[in-house]
Amino acid sequence: MAGSQHVSEHREVLYVIACGSPLARHVGRLVDLAQQDGWEVCVVATPDGAKFVDKPALARQTGHPVRTHYKNPGDPDVLPPADAMIVCPATVNTINKWAAGIADTLALGLLVEAQGKGLPIVAVPYTNAAMAAHPAFRAGIARLTEWGVTVLFGDHVVALHPPGTGEQHLDAFPWPMPLATLGSVSWSAA
Ligand SMILES: Cc1cc2nc3c(=O)[nH]c(=O)nc-3n(C[C@H](O)[C@H](O)[C@H](O)COP(=O)(O)O)c2cc1C
Repeated sequence: MAGSQHVSEHREVLYVIACGSPLARHVGRLVDLAQQDGWEVCVVATPDGAKFVDKPALARQTGHPVRTHYKNPGDPDVLPPADAMIVCPATVNTINKWAAGIADTLALGLLVEAQGKGLPIVAVPYTNAAMAAHPAFRAGIARLTEWGVTVLFGDHVVALHPPGTGEQHLDAFPWPMPLATLGSVSWSAA
């Protein structure tokens, strides 16, 4: 199975985290590929990501509710614990906040915690050329990479598009790439 170098008696759980980009509309493609690869998949959307995804369809596809907000104190966990995470699409906003250790969305809280646990994480930013030019974004990618997160970013993944044209490039997105990359990320969890 992709993403694993250890023996497990249960199906490994992949969290697919979708941020606020039109690419999130197609995240079911990644879910489908991951399920074909043997993963049990749960989808988490940021509050802005939730505006793009089809939550009922993804819940049917995964068998798990799509979570967006932190649970209330005392409420049970509704998702199984993650063995690995793919953040796709990752927004500039979420990359920047994650690199600063901010955990003010469920998605960020899960990522900050997963990093501390040493789980394999692959992040795939999707944004336009202007937003991608911000120095904080470049610094955030560098910091996350330095800390062991695999960030897929650059023309070999997806070419940066002019502002306002993101919708036109969705079909060109290489959905197998994050999953294939996760398969080569070494397992460093305790
Ligand atoms: C129609 C629309 C499309 C957007 N597309 C992107 C995008 O592709 N990449 C990106 O980084 N931000 C994009 N944004 C901006 C983010 O949605 C915004 O920064 C938001 O705060 C991200 O929140 P999140 O990181 O919690 O998902 C878009 C916003 C809108 C309204």
